[in-house]
Amino acid sequence: MQQKPIVIFDSGVGGLSIYQEIRQKLPFLSVVYCSDNEGFPYGPKPESDVVDRTTYCLTRLVAQYQPALAIIACNTASTISLPKARQLLDIPIVGVVPAIKPASQTSKKRCIGLLATPGTVERDYTDQLIQDFAGDCEVIRVGSSELVHLAEQHLRGEAINPDELKKIVEPLFNGNNWPDCIVLGCTHFPLVQELLDSVVPAPVTWIDSGEAIARRVADLMAEHHAHHEGPVEHCFLYTGSEESMTSLIPALKAMDFSEITGLDH
Ligand code: DGL
Repeated sequence: MQQKPIVIFDSGVGGLSIYQEIRQKLPFLSVVYCSDNEGFPYGPKPESDVVDRTTYCLTRLVAQYQPALAIIACNTASTISLPKARQLLDIPIVGVVPAIKPASQTSKKRCIGLLATPGTVERDYTDQLIQDFAGDCEVIRVGSSELVHLAEQHLRGEAINPDELKKIVEPLFNGNNWPDCIVLGCTHFPLVQELLDSVVPAPVTWIDSGEAIARRVADLMAEHHAHHEGPVEHCFLYTGSEESMTSLIPALKAMDFSEITGLDH
């Protein structure tokens, strides 16, 4: 019997930061990655559009691949789509949400930066996370769609102007209290973490959800006695045009995707 793959879903290439953590911790798993690049970017979209696109793609993916579980590797989508996705689909759905709790456990200055999409920084879900886990911290929120685009360009091998990055992180350091921890609350952002680190005016600890998600997936796979034998193959699906993929192919090949093709829909 062939093992069932897991699905990793995002609006673009951000979920690849989760894919990399999964491959490191669970190298025996086959991954079906889906980029809804036709719907990209999700950050500025109305919530109902994001929920509809996410649940539509996941429903197609589950019907086609019968995965063991699916990860919504997108904070913007997870913070609003999880209840509907779980209601519609009969497999475990893992969401990726801003890592406020670990940041609160790490921050000595009790001042945390949250860098995410404009959608995520405004969500009720994010307010609740801050209230539950970082009530005694100052949380400085910065929403940026531009950084999402820059991360996409970086993976396509384009040079990024450090001044653009500086402008994006600047509002985190405008007040008297500077954060000592910055939560990367968008899965695209770990892809440019080193570049961000080179432009911040003081040392910070960058915190994302990747490792915690890989741990959660490992626990779920063990709980469900998932089968681990058979060849490991990774497939990258997209919803946009074939041309939209051309400049990404070298990065995807380097990440061991053996098949790169459109999602049947
Ligand atoms: N990667 C996504 C996230 O984690 C969103 C990027 C977008 O705006 O589409 O929030």
